[in-house]
Amino acid sequence: MPDPGRLRIAIPEVLAAAATTGHPDGVLLTLAAVDLPAPAAGPPDFVLVLDRLQDPGNLGTLLRTALAAGVDQVWLSEGADPLQPKVLRASSGAALALPLVRMAATDLPGRLAAARERGVQLVAAVVPEAGGAAQPYWELDWRRPTALLLGNEGAGLAPELARLADRRVTIPHSPAVESLNVAAAAALLLLERPRQAHGRPGA
Ligand SMILES: C[S@@+](CC[C@H](N)C(=O)[O-])C[C@H]1O[C@@H](n2cnc3c(N)ncnc32)[C@H](O)[C@@H]1O
Repeated sequence: MPDPGRLRIAIPEVLAAAATTGHPDGVLLTLAAVDLPAPAAGPPDFVLVLDRLQDPGNLGTLLRTALAAGVDQVWLSEGADPLQPKVLRASSGAALALPLVRMAATDLPGRLAAARERGVQLVAAVVPEAGGAAQPYWELDWRRPTALLLGNEGAGLAPELARLADRRVTIPHSPAVESLNVAAAAALLLLERPRQAHGRPGA
């Protein structure tokens, strides 16, 4: 039986303002965000780093794939709020299951440098470039402690973050398109790690 002290009668206007659906069914549950998972102490093993991602649908999709791939922390520099309703829906709950660390874009380089000091390789995902300076993503050893850096929809990865990375990986594709959608690219990149851990000869 719910604690009756926590039940409140709300007028329809309040329900409509608080609900994220067009036709709320009359009952809402609100939860404090204090029990969200926190990053474990010690060096991270697999970090997804998102540089000012804008689109809530992309962010939710990315978080869902990150959870599936075994990511243990997500670092977000500014961009879309990971706890807004569109992200929560697209993430299918993954946004509440993953330790999320939000920070100013100016704090990200320092945090990445500290992770590298602790043995984490910094891997920048970049679009295929003329000259091919980035290696195909399947050539990287993803089984090492890794931070994967993804750029945002419009500008890509900030140049200072790309420069900071130890490795640059790409998903080669036809030049008919300049780049993949960031969430589509992330699915291949993130799931390469469990693929190598389970399927690579000598793994
Ligand atoms: C839509 S793209 C950004 C395009 C942007 N105009 C640029 O030049 O980077 C968003 C992010 O998805 C990732 N991405 C997209 N296509 C990729 C590919 N073929 N290989 C690796 N990463 C890719 C990169 O991290 C990129 O910054």
